[in-house]
Amino acid sequence: MNTESAPTAISVRGLKKSYKDLQVLRGVDLEVNPGEILALLGSNGAGKTTLVRILSTLLTADAGSALVAGFDTATQAHRVRETISLTGQFTAIDPVLSGRENLVLMAQLRHLKNASQHAEELLERFALSDAGDRKAATYSGGMSRRLDIAMSLIGNPRIIFLDEPTTGLDPQARLEVWDTVRRLAADGTTVLLTTQYLDEAEQLADRIAILHRGTIIQNGTLDQLKDLLPPAHVEYVKKQPSLEDVFLALVGAPDQEQP
Ligand SMILES: Nc1ncnc2c1ncn2[C@@H]1O[C@H](COP(=O)(O)OP(=O)(O)OP(=O)(O)O)[C@@H](O)[C@H]1O
Ligand SMILES: [Mg+2]
Repeated sequence: MNTESAPTAISVRGLKKSYKDLQVLRGVDLEVNPGEILALLGSNGAGKTTLVRILSTLLTADAGSALVAGFDTATQAHRVRETISLTGQFTAIDPVLSGRENLVLMAQLRHLKNASQHAEELLERFALSDAGDRKAATYSGGMSRRLDIAMSLIGNPRIIFLDEPTTGLDPQARLEVWDTVRRLAADGTTVLLTTQYLDEAEQLADRIAILHRGTIIQNGTLDQLKDLLPPAHVEYVKKQPSLEDVFLALVGAPDQEQP
């Protein structure tokens, strides 16, 4: 956790963005504290990716301001880019290269000395050492996502954007990614992730922001959000395991390494 008096990791005020006549963001306000995991929830087309692309300087807003690590995304884009990494909805992995080669390539692109040492450390950290020499095309979904996140960590970004990190993954692979994200936050990295999965937000996030019809309609901890509803009527029922409980009990919890 970052204890120095760092600026708010992400600070968004009155952000607006339209695509021609389609108003997607209509005045978004959002703050994310250093070392926090914020889940941005919203249905398909709510504008999650649009917001993430503005915060990661891939897109410019029409109005309002977005500061990342204190830098203005509009006027200090290169400073923002030095601070962040983005793992998009679609992976950056080259499938014909091995996991190790993908990591080395990324480190070289970032002009890091000791590219192979960085690659080695990340393979170790993401439990991919044994699979490091295999073509990434042979990786399972969970392993690919871990490699993708590992690649985005090269250069030690303080703030990381994960756009739908677990979409399309099976329950075990989702748990692997969740563990990865938790470890990142424990190391002090600020994480903004988008998701359509309520349980993902529930499990991972320190705070949850709900993007709906162009604005953040709610923002708070899970308990704060739950307090918005009237207290539940208490009944004694036998708790049934969820399908996910049953699936994981039958298949087993995720292994560190899945060949
Ligand atoms: N380049 C573009 N040109 C025109 N319209 C766009 C463009 N990019 C996104 N849109 C539209 O803007 C809206 C918001 O899209 P965005 O991708 O930000 O949503 P999202 O919340 O990430 O959705 P999903 O959950 O499907 O990923 C959608 O209606 C989309 O069709
Ligand atoms: Mg999206």
